[in-house]
Amino acid sequence: MSRRIAFINEKGGTCKTTLAVNLAAYFARKKGQRVLLLDLDTQGHAGKSLGVDVRTTSPNVFHFLCDRSVSLSEVARPTATEGLTVVPSYKEMSEFPVSAAPDPRRAFRLAERLAEPAAAHYDLVLFDAPPSMGLTTYNILVAATEVVIPVALTYLSLDGCAEVVETVRRVSAEHDRPDLHVSLVVPTLYRKTTLADEILDKLRSYFPDRCAKTPLGLNVKIDEAQSHGKTIWEYAPWSRGATMLQEIAEAVFSAGAQRKPAAGRAVA
Ligand SMILES: Nc1ncnc2c1ncn2[C@@H]1O[C@H](COP(=O)(O)OP(=O)(O)O)[C@@H](O)[C@H]1O
Ligand SMILES: [Mg+2]
Repeated sequence: MSRRIAFINEKGGTCKTTLAVNLAAYFARKKGQRVLLLDLDTQGHAGKSLGVDVRTTSPNVFHFLCDRSVSLSEVARPTATEGLTVVPSYKEMSEFPVSAAPDPRRAFRLAERLAEPAAAHYDLVLFDAPPSMGLTTYNILVAATEVVIPVALTYLSLDGCAEVVETVRRVSAEHDRPDLHVSLVVPTLYRKTTLADEILDKLRSYFPDRCAKTPLGLNVKIDEAQSHGKTIWEYAPWSRGATMLQEIAEAVFSAGAQRKPAAGRAVA
């Protein structure tokens, strides 16, 4: 199975979408990968950040998950980045937990759809998760092989990170999925303050081998790029934001290459 990387943190505004979109584009551009990015958040920001008009784009990920007659090729949209395809999301996704509730296989919807032959076309699958730990995120964990946790360097952020680690461990055990693991913790929204440095030190001591060396610092070009529906590589490739994102992308990419089999249970 190809690598399937989920960007998860139940808190909003921790840079899940920013990382998912820009890393997906980086892997397509610089690593020659055929990349599929699935947005699973009701806000539809991953599609928007790639210039897709998510309000009028239908069918989308909701229809893909709720109707087996909707094929991957119908929901997978090409982007301005060669090699990067996105499955957009929008408000309908808020109905997914209710709509899937009667189905005993509801936690496996995403994994089962990605087990279909059309998904084998992709070398890498990335998931942009919603800011909650409900059925949608559960589907993502069941479908993923690894999790990247973006942690905003603010007070209480370590709690959120520990929750994700625990959930990954639980899903890994419940579904006999020793391969599912946290591959990288990425400190984000870094500003040089005493508090941010203290939190960063703690994060590094909890995750000595799995904390990205480069925190994602604040850089206005990253925000601007999203507002223009562009990746940082198109909008401001020479910016400090692009340099930081490139270092993080390389760390995520090599985290998969370095992985030893059966190390997946040691996620804490
Ligand atoms: N490094 C950064 N510097 C400045 N703004 C950023 C940076 N990373 C993300 N942002 C902005 O912060 C907001 C939240 O980021 P986002 O990736 O959407 O978070 P999440 O998906 O976790 O909710 C967005 O408006 C985004 O453009
Ligand atoms: Mg988001």
